[in-house]
This record gives sequence, structure tokens and C-alpha cells, in this order.
Amino acid sequence: MSATEEKEQAVSGQAEQGKEGGEQAAGRAEIKPTSTLSRAKLLKFLVLPLLVFGAGFVVNLFIGWVIFPRLLYSEKDQPIDFSHKIHVEAVEEGCESCHFFGEDGTFSGVPGAEKCAECHEERIGIHPEEAKLVEEYILPGKEIPWHIYARQPNCVYFSHAAHIKMAKLECVTCHGPVGESIHVKRYQQNRITGYSRDIWGWRISGIKTNSWDRMKMDDCADCHKKSGARNDCFVCHK
Ligand code: HEC
Ligand code: HEC
Ligand code: HEC
Ligand code: HEC
Ligand code: HEC
Repeated sequence: MSATEEKEQAVSGQAEQGKEGGEQAAGRAEIKPTSTLSRAKLLKFLVLPLLVFGAGFVVNLFIGWVIFPRLLYSEKDQPIDFSHKIHVEAVEEGCESCHFFGEDGTFSGVPGAEKCAECHEERIGIHPEEAKLVEEYILPGKEIPWHIYARQPNCVYFSHAAHIKMAKLECVTCHGPVGESIHVKRYQQNRITGYSRDIWGWRISGIKTNSWDRMKMDDCADCHKKSGARNDCFVCHK
């Protein structure tokens, strides 16, 4: 068969089919191309973009949730691993043995090394962190450079007496369960703002489930509003 003959046969075949099939063939001819087209369209305009979006979303979530906080915060170790649990049992007056109000009403804050020396003038146990305390700080008479998780910037005025003696608040409301801790956590500092992470907030999402998750201006002001305390600028900024 020559090429032209072949062509002719095919054309006549099609013509016959067309005659026979009538509407049926026309219907088939209509449905088939559109259905393959819509599948291709579906892939192109819905599935692929969804996949790309999904992958992008997961990558960004990972960057936002895992990588970004690591880049944003620098971490520092506390000088000594201090167990609140051991010490709250070892002292006589609980928290107030170390965190108390002076006669003038000022709060003592973190105790100095001379407080520790009351019991650790020389080693009393076999714990390596205790050895560090005695050898690096108590014997040479050096202060222990603790990082303060709750430290506010210098422009902020804060008074423990107002909150503990007057408002009768618990330490845990603002600090979380530090008093029950067995180990110190690493101190995290925001590289951009210089704020401690306990001020700037632990959740990247900004959601707050505990009163101590964050302590920015709005967090102080929210409680002041709720409890009817003064909220003028100069209350917290002298
Ligand atoms: C033997 C002394 C001692 C006793 C008792 C003690 N603390 Fe402390 N506290 C410390 C030292 C030292 C630090 C600094 C290291 C650290 O952050 O754990 C500290 C830090 C803290 C901080 C963190 C402040 C900050 O923002 O960095 C809080 C809150 C606190 N103590 C609460 C308590 C509470 C509540 C109790 C009682 C349940 C208590 N402490 C009992 C010695 C003591
Ligand atoms: C009332 C006495 C007393 C005071 C005050 C005291 N300690 Fe202790 N400390 C103890 C006892 C008791 C132990 C447990 C010793 C053991 O069996 O290893 C201990 C253990 C330790 C240890 C090892 C266990 C651990 O990880 O906590 C460290 C570190 C330590 N103390 C640091 C300090 C520092 C810092 C201070 C001052 C802020 C301080 N202590 C004040 C009684 C005291
Ligand atoms: C209303 C919130 C609030 C409450 C309640 C509170 N604190 Fe604080 N605490 C703070 C803030 C804010 C700072 C930081 C102050 C600053 O930077 O000047 C701080 C700082 C501290 C420090 C470090 C001080 C220093 O400069 O060395 C210690 C220790 C501490 N608090 C212990 C306690 C204890 C113990 C209690 C319970 C008796 C308590 N706090 C209750 C908000 C609170
Ligand atoms: C959980 C509630 C709460 C939080 C959080 C809180 N405060 Fe207060 N604050 C109070 C209450 C209640 C008073 C009023 C106490 C009184 O005089 O009876 C007060 C009083 C004060 C006062 C004294 C006001 C005066 O009239 O002299 C200052 C200053 C202050 N707060 C600053 C702060 C700062 C700064 C923060 C955040 C770092 C903060 N507070 C977080 C409840 C809170
Ligand atoms: C209840 C306490 C409170 C009151 C009231 C308050 N502030 Fe603040 N402010 C803070 C705290 C805590 C910070 C530090 C944490 C932060 O930046 O959110 C701060 C931070 C700031 C800063 C940023 C300073 C810096 O170094 O980044 C400015 C500006 C400021 N406050 C202005 C004001 C003005 C203006 C008012 C009155 C409309 C006011 N504040 C009322 C507690 C308070």
C-alpha cells in the first residue's frame, strides 16, 4: 500500500464511522478532550500549587519555629548549676532565707556568695558543682555572676514590695516554678533587643498560656488593668 492509499483509507474509515455513529461519536468527541484537559488543568492550577504551597508552608514553619528562635536568641550557661529543691529543704525559712525584704523595704534579690558561705565555707558534699562554688567563688571571695531571667531594661521601675506585700502575689505568677527547679535553665537573650527571653516571651507564636510566659509592657499593664492598679506611664517609668 502506498502512502496516499493509506491516507485515503483512513479518511474514508473516519467518514464511515461518522456516518454510523452520528450523535454518539459527536458526544464522545466532546467529552474526551475536555476531560483530559480538565485533569491537566486540575494538576496545573490546583494540585501542583497546593503541593508547592504545602512544601513551602512546612519549610517556613520549620524555619519560623525551629531555626529562627535559635538565630534570634543567644544562650548563656549560669555560672553554677543550682538546685532550688535541695536548698529550700536545707534552709530554715524557705524562700525568705535567701530572697527577703530589708528593713528599708528593698528586696534582696539573688543572695550573694556570703549567704552560700554560711554552709559552703568548705565542701560539705561530693557534688562537682559544689566544688566549683567553693573553689572558684567562695575561697577567692568572688561574687557569683548569675544571669537574671526576669531582668527588665533600665527604663523600667519595678518594686517587689508593691506586688508581694501590698498585692499579695505569689512568686510563681511572674517567675514560674523557679522555686521548685532542680537545675538552672540556660539564660537566653534576644540578639536584637537585648531582652531576656523570659521578658520577650517563650512562644514564637506569641500565645500565652501561663502568666509567666512573657513579661513585656502589655503583660504588666494587663494585670494592672484587671486588678485596678495604677497604669500611668510614670508608675513604671520614673
Ligand atoms: C539557698 C538560697 C535560696 C533559696 C532558699 C531560694 N532561692 Fe531562689 N535563687 C537563689 C539563687 C542562688 C538564684 C540564682 C540562680 C537561679 O536563677 O536559680 C535564685 C533565683 C531565683 C529566681 C529567679 C530570678 C531570676 O529572674 O533570675 C526566682 C524566681 C527564685 N529564686 C525564687 C525562689 C523561690 C520561690 C524560693 C522558695 C520556694 C526560693 N527562690 C528559694 C537562691 C535561693
Ligand atoms: C543552709 C545551708 C545552705 C546554704 C545557705 C546553701 N547551701 Fe548549697 N547545699 C546545702 C546542702 C545541705 C547541700 C547538699 C549537699 C550534698 O549532700 O551534696 C547543698 C548542695 C549544693 C550544691 C550541689 C547540689 C546542687 O546542684 O545544687 C550546690 C551547687 C550548692 N549547694 C550551691 C549553693 C549556693 C550557690 C548557695 C548560695 C546561694 C548555697 N548553696 C547555699 C546547703 C546550703
Ligand atoms: C508582679 C511580678 C513579680 C512577682 C509577683 C515576683 N517577682 Fe521577682 N521579679 C519581677 C521582675 C519584673 C523582676 C526584674 C526586676 C528588675 O529588672 O529590676 C524580678 C526580679 C527578681 C529577682 C532577681 C532580682 C535581682 O536583681 O537580683 C529575684 C531573685 C526574684 N525576682 C525573686 C522573686 C521571689 C522570691 C518572689 C516571691 C516572693 C518574686 N520574685 C515575686 C517580677 C515579680
Ligand atoms: C499579676 C499582676 C501584676 C503584674 C504581672 C504586674 N503587676 Fe505591678 N502591681 C500589681 C498590683 C495589684 C499593684 C498594686 C499594689 C498596691 O499598691 O496595692 C501593682 C503595683 C505596681 C507598682 C507600684 C505602683 C504604685 O502605686 O506605687 C509598680 C511600679 C508596678 N506595679 C510595676 C510593674 C511592672 C513594671 C510590671 C511588669 C514587669 C508589673 N508591675 C507587673 C499587679 C501586677
Ligand atoms: C505597668 C507598667 C508599665 C506602664 C504603666 C507603662 N510601661 Fe512602658 N514599659 C514597661 C515595661 C516592663 C517595659 C519593658 C518591656 C517592653 O519593652 O515591653 C516598657 C517599655 C517601654 C518602652 C520601650 C523602651 C525600650 O527600651 O525599648 C517605651 C517607649 C515605653 N515603655 C513607654 C511607655 C509609655 C509612653 C507609657 C504610658 C502610656 C508606658 N510605657 C506605661 C512597663 C510599663
